[in-house]
Amino acid sequence: VKGEPVNSSRGVSRRRFLLGAAGSAALVSAGRAAQALPAEPEASPAGEATVPAQGEHQAGVDTPLQSAAIFTAYNLVAGITRVEIARLMQLWTDDIVRLTQGRPALGDPVPELAAIPARLTVTVGFGPGVFAAAAMEGARPSWLRPLPAFKGDRLQADWSGGDLLVQLCADDPVTLAHADQVLTSTASSFASVAWQQHGFQRARGMTPDGTVGRNLMGFVDGIVNPVPGTADFDAVVWNPGQPPWLKGGSCLIVRRIRMDLQRWSSLDTRQREEVFGRTAADGSPLSGGSPQDRPDLDARDSSGLSAIPLFAHVRLAAPTSPEERILRRPFNYDSGPIAGGRDSGLIFAAYCANPERQYIAMQRRLADHDLLNSWVSAVGSAVFAIPPGFKDGHYLGESLLKI
Ligand code: HEM
Repeated sequence: VKGEPVNSSRGVSRRRFLLGAAGSAALVSAGRAAQALPAEPEASPAGEATVPAQGEHQAGVDTPLQSAAIFTAYNLVAGITRVEIARLMQLWTDDIVRLTQGRPALGDPVPELAAIPARLTVTVGFGPGVFAAAAMEGARPSWLRPLPAFKGDRLQADWSGGDLLVQLCADDPVTLAHADQVLTSTASSFASVAWQQHGFQRARGMTPDGTVGRNLMGFVDGIVNPVPGTADFDAVVWNPGQPPWLKGGSCLIVRRIRMDLQRWSSLDTRQREEVFGRTAADGSPLSGGSPQDRPDLDARDSSGLSAIPLFAHVRLAAPTSPEERILRRPFNYDSGPIAGGRDSGLIFAAYCANPERQYIAMQRRLADHDLLNSWVSAVGSAVFAIPPGFKDGHYLGESLLKI
């Protein structure tokens, strides 16, 4: 058949089917489409790259930041049982094992799109509703509840809470859209989408791998972070077994923080730097040194004033105790114009073992005093327990849900 793609046996049989089913009109249009649109070329090394889905921890936490993310919260259907939640986890585990390794899911609606894994990771979280639905309140970590109200919060129900969370990250937006379609369709008889947020960093290849990206205010964001593979990272991020089923898991906090970029644009560079306490050019602390140097909070400038202003973001975010540490995995978002401005900002995604010990005091300090608050406000907030990873033959969340 003229115009038949030579490298796709699935394409051939589908076109033969069209010929049989709908006659020559279908053949002609299929042939034209194939001529006009050459098959997607082979995946590049970046497209072929995979992250293992199985292991002690779920992927997508200690994984170097990918260039795009979709965060989807789901609400469980009324009356769902623990056995059904376990069934959903088994189905999702199967989807995850396949999709992250570049293979179509079972019954994949668009198998062609699975061919480019692009470092896809899928990280699943449980909100408080899972424990209520599964009649397992005793297994709910005590910290798994909505964060307390903070000064300046402008939370909207549309961006808050949720029974289940799926964090999808990859270096390609088509891969992400496909993974989202598969997982959401797998979940359809168990749970419905409560909210979804799309986030992005620079596209892979625009900067050297491992470069810390910029937020939409223009500042390098994510410099001070625990380093994967160190004992420090393990202590900050992974749950030590409180409760026991959560050992090797974590806690994910997702805050949707809107930026008033119009008002931010009226500040000059120096004023912006004073808000953060780091330079706009490369993120070096205003106390001096290179971007990787820690801000010296005691340093003074030539006129005797604090080099890092008293209400600068990095001063207030700096830990006041060894426990007050988190892993930040932020993505920018931009949903375009809304009444009175633009809905863009930061999907502030942070991991820690225990938010009550590690996160809440820091957030309260920032909410009360951070200069940055004049230009940002939280419009969404959610907290999830991140179950540990899974091994071959096992499923996500099994340590909680297995009877
Ligand atoms: C739109 C909101 C936010 C923006 C634009 C933002 C941006 C930044 C920037 C540019 C830095 C300095 C560079 C770096 O170390 O990454 C920083 C540091 C930091 N931020 Fe934020 N941030 C935001 C919200 C938050 C929130 C809500 C928290 C925690 C509750 C937080 C915690 C931190 C921490 C812990 C540091 C490192 C502080 C240190 O030097 O020890 N940030 N942030």
